[in-house]
Amino acid sequence: MIERSFVILKPDAVSRKLIGKIISRFEEKGLKIVGTKFLQVTKDLAETHYGEHEGKPFFNNLVSYIISAPSLAMVIEGDDAISVIRKIVGATNPKEADLGTIRGDYGMVTGRNIIHASDSLKSSEREINLFFNKDEVFYYKVPDNSWIYE
Ligand code: RTP
Ligand code: MG
Repeated sequence: MIERSFVILKPDAVSRKLIGKIISRFEEKGLKIVGTKFLQVTKDLAETHYGEHEGKPFFNNLVSYIISAPSLAMVIEGDDAISVIRKIVGATNPKEADLGTIRGDYGMVTGRNIIHASDSLKSSEREINLFFNKDEVFYYKVPDNSWIYE
């Protein structure tokens, strides 16, 4: 099923100038960027986005990290995009993430793990609506579609 996932390149990814390399991985896989926005996440937005983790010991550090510098938010589309993207992203702890994944290749610790990606269709709908207006996400055709999908 064609799905849309919400992805953020967190402040460490942007500040370490990894934007181009990370976006290339998604494009080269055959996924399509359908929305993107450069922003500095506010405290309110960070607390809402990561609301499921409120009260956990790492919550305050997580919020401080996410609001500390600009981030790049994206909506990425493709067949089974949610699980395909989570695989490309890798495990939460970059030391445990497989090499070849974004976190495995670029990160060292969980508190600086480079990137967020939606973990379910329900989360992706919630997160896309939280970060993007309807007219900031696009439908468009790409010419290589029949070479990516049967
Ligand atoms: P994300 O939501 O950012 O895509 O990450 P995830 O699903 O792989 O992991 P999740 O459990 O949702 O945790 C959200 C983010 O919180 C930080 N974290 N720190 N110090 C810790 O024990 C700890 N655990 C989680 C990470 O930045 C993680 O990505
Ligand atoms: Mg998560």
